[in-house]
Amino acid sequence: MCGIVGYIGPKSVSSVLLVGLQKLEYRGYDSAGIAIMDKSELSIQKNKGKIAGLVDIVNKRPMPGNLGIGHTRWATHGEPSKVNSHPHTNSSGTIAVVQNGIVENYMELKNELMDDGFIFSSETDTEVIPHLFEKYLKENFRPEVAFLRVLKRIEGKFAIALVSEKVPEKIFFAKNGAPLILAIGKDEDNQQKENFLASDLPALVPLAKKAYYLKDKECGFISQGTVVLSDFEGNLKEPNFEKILMKSDDIEKGEFEHYMLKEIYEQPDMIERILSHRINENKHIIFNELKLERDYLARIGRIVIQASGTSLHAGYNGKNFFEQFVKVFADADYSSEFRYRNPVVAGDSMVIAISQSGETADTLASLHEAKSKFIKVLSFVNNMNSTMARESDAVIDLLAGPEIGVASTKAYTAELLNLFLFALYLSSIKWILPKEDRIQLLDEIYTLPEKMRKILRNHERLKEIGAFLNTVNDTIFLGRTYNFPTALEGALKLKEISYIHASGYAGGEFKHGPIALVSEKVPVIAIVPQSEIRTKMISNIQEVKARNGKIISIITEGDQEVKDLSDYYFEIPPVAEPLSPLLTILPLQLISYYTALYRGCDVDQPRNLAKSVTVE
Ligand code: F6R
Repeated sequence: MCGIVGYIGPKSVSSVLLVGLQKLEYRGYDSAGIAIMDKSELSIQKNKGKIAGLVDIVNKRPMPGNLGIGHTRWATHGEPSKVNSHPHTNSSGTIAVVQNGIVENYMELKNELMDDGFIFSSETDTEVIPHLFEKYLKENFRPEVAFLRVLKRIEGKFAIALVSEKVPEKIFFAKNGAPLILAIGKDEDNQQKENFLASDLPALVPLAKKAYYLKDKECGFISQGTVVLSDFEGNLKEPNFEKILMKSDDIEKGEFEHYMLKEIYEQPDMIERILSHRINENKHIIFNELKLERDYLARIGRIVIQASGTSLHAGYNGKNFFEQFVKVFADADYSSEFRYRNPVVAGDSMVIAISQSGETADTLASLHEAKSKFIKVLSFVNNMNSTMARESDAVIDLLAGPEIGVASTKAYTAELLNLFLFALYLSSIKWILPKEDRIQLLDEIYTLPEKMRKILRNHERLKEIGAFLNTVNDTIFLGRTYNFPTALEGALKLKEISYIHASGYAGGEFKHGPIALVSEKVPVIAIVPQSEIRTKMISNIQEVKARNGKIISIITEGDQEVKDLSDYYFEIPPVAEPLSPLLTILPLQLISYYTALYRGCDVDQPRNLAKSVTVE
C-alpha cells in the first residue's frame, strides 16, 4: 500500500525512480511523484493518477540530478489529487518527504506546527514530517539529529524517505511497521557507488544486487556509496546485505496482456514446483524451513487460523483440512476481528497466520495479539523477508513466486496446497491418517498440474460466460463444504476486478435469506464438483430454476444431470473432493478476468484497491 523508492548513483535518477515506481504500482495508483536533488536544488513533479502520466510530464520537462525519492500513492488521508500527492514539502520546498503508512498523531502535530506559524497545503498526515524536520533545523539541530527527533515525535506504522537541500548528498530513511529495503548496485564492490531504497524488491530488480531488509525502528541515511544505519536512538548498526534472488522474468508480464492472466496460467507449474520442494522421493512430506519441535506439533490441540481476504478463504479450507485429516479443532477468522475480540486461546493452541505479502496490517496485529497471549504463531507467507516471517515463531514459504496482479490468484492455490500438505504432515506426526490414505492423497495431488492445464486449455468456453456476466449487475456464488470457500473466493474475484456485485454463500444457507434475491437478472454460479453433497447442491440449483433464475455451473466432466439444469456450465476433470478447490477456482478466476475485459476494467489495477494492505 503506497510504494516508495530512492536512488543515488550515476544513472539517470528520474529514470531509475520512474521505472522503480512502475514496478511498485500494484501498491497504489491514485497519484505519483518524484523529488530530485540537482547539486543542492530540489525539484518536484507530481501528478494525480497513474505513473504513466508522471512519465509524460518528466519526459517533457526533464529533471536532472544526483539523487531522488519517489512515491506511488494509495490514498488514506485526503482525496487523490495533485496537492495530496507525495512528495510533500515544507513551505519553501527545500525539504521533501515520501511516506508509506500513517502518522497517527498527525492532527496533534499539525495543530502544534500551525501554532508555530507553519503553513500546510495538503490534507495528508505526511505533510507534518517536512515541517517538523524544518522546525528542528531552525532550532539548530544537525540534520541527522533533527531526523531522529522527528522519528521520536511521530506515532504509527510507516516507512519514510526524506531529502533536504541542507544536506543535498543524503537521503534519510526510517522504517516502523511498513516495509523498506536498502540495496546496493550491481557491481560487487559497489564501485559505481549506487544505493537504492524501495518498499519492495520488484523496484530493485534488475538494477540492484544486494538488499538489506530494514527492521522496525531502524533508520539512517544513504549517500553515494555509503549506508549509515542506526536505531531510532541513534545507536549505529551494521546492515547485513543479502544477494537478491528475484529475477526480472519473475516480475515481467512476458507474453501475457495482464499480470493476473500470467499468474493464473503459472499455477500448474507452480504446483509442480511446490510439490518438488515438499515431497521427497520416499513420499515423505518435508517442511525444511519449519523450526518447530515434533513434540510441540504432536501436542497441538487446537488451530486458530487468521488471515484477510483471499488468504482467509484459503484458511477456511485449512480449517477443513485440519479437522478432516488431523482431527484437531480448527477455526478460521478475519484478522481484523480476531485482534480486537480478545479471543480465548488455550495453551495447546497454535495460531496460523496466512498472508501472501507477509505485511498485511490486520494479520500482523493478530500475530501480535496471539504472541501477547504466549501462543506460538506459524505463518504461511510468500515473502520470507516480510515482517510476518520475521516476527512469527515459525514460517512456511508458500513458494508461489512474486504475485504482482492486485487480485490474488496463484497465491491462493499455493496457500491451499501448502495448508493441505501441512495438514497431512501434522496427521503423520500425530499418527492420525493411515499411511495408505496419505499416499493415495499424495498420488492424487500429483495429478493436479495436468488437470489444471486441461482447464486452462478450455478457456474459450469461459469467455462466453464472461460475456453473459457483463450483462448483469448482481450475482450469487454457491458452494458447500470444501467449495464454500471457493464460492467466497469466486465472488471476491468477480467483484474486485469487474465491479459486479457478487456474494458467496454456503449452499445450505441459501434458503435462509439470499434466495430472495434470485431473479432472471441475478444469476447463480453453482460450484458442484463430484462430492458427497453434490445432490444437496442440485437441490439448490432446482430452487433457483423454480424461480426463473439462471445457473452457471462448475461441474465434473460428464455430469449430465447438472448440465441439463444449467444455462452455462464448465467441466473440470474428476478429483478427490478435498483437493477440488484447487481446480474449481481456476474457471472462476478466468470468468472474472474475461468479465472485467468485457467491461473495459483495468484488470491489474482495479479501482480503489492496492496490493499489500499495510493500513488497518
Ligand atoms: C484479493 C486480495 C486480498 C488479499 C488480502 C490479504 O484478491 O488480494 O483480499 O488476499 O488483502 O493479503 P495478504 O495475503 O497479503 O495478507
